[in-house]
Amino acid sequence: MAGFFISFEGTEGAGKTTLIQKLQAYLSACGKDVVLTREPGGSGLGRKLRAIILNAEEKISSGAELFLFLADRAEHVEEVIKPALKQGKIVLCDRFVDSTVAYQGYGRGMDKALLETLNGVAAGGLLPDLTIVLDLEPEVGLNRAKKRNAEQNLTVEEGRFEAEALAFHQKIRQGFLELAESNSRFLVVDAMQDADTVFEQVRQKIAGMLKSEKLR
Ligand code: TYD
Repeated sequence: MAGFFISFEGTEGAGKTTLIQKLQAYLSACGKDVVLTREPGGSGLGRKLRAIILNAEEKISSGAELFLFLADRAEHVEEVIKPALKQGKIVLCDRFVDSTVAYQGYGRGMDKALLETLNGVAAGGLLPDLTIVLDLEPEVGLNRAKKRNAEQNLTVEEGRFEAEALAFHQKIRQGFLELAESNSRFLVVDAMQDADTVFEQVRQKIAGMLKSEKLR
């Protein structure tokens, strides 16, 4: 059997982690083999890169930042995602290629067509079967993220993007929505709804796709 690849996108604090955990529990209970992973940081090399990328204390250029994300992705796809899909597993990935277009393209102003090309190189042409965008007012999400960081005692080490101005996050939200409009692999879900409602909407979509065997 071939696998199924789902990515999760959205601005900060939209509730991806909660949703992914609920889906993992649900799919496992259905007897599916599930791999939960994330970018940046889903591979051995990626965990080292993540510490560099997200450390807001160290200034790095937009170009360097981009290539760190792409290096993380290339290793992640080869080491983790492709092998899991080959084994017929369901891969749940917290952020993937669309984050690069949204953050580095819409956010940092880099050329979007070029980013699509570079994504293709880094991911070896792999795209998700389904991409969930959790859509939320950035202001609400940033407050949630700040609260979470304080609770987990995370400060600047995990805060490069959370430290950006609200306008930056509004551009990113717009980016995800535009990407979703032009591509049928996306499902946009209103993340202002409570976590159970969000989960139920996504669960129905996935169950439908798995039933109709839209598998790779
Ligand atoms: P993370 O702590 O995983 O954030 P979140 O919980 O919001 O997913 O940090 C990942 C950050 O990196 C997030 O702010 C989005 C950003 N990012 C990019 O800018 N480009 C990318 O290609 C990826 C994968 C992430």
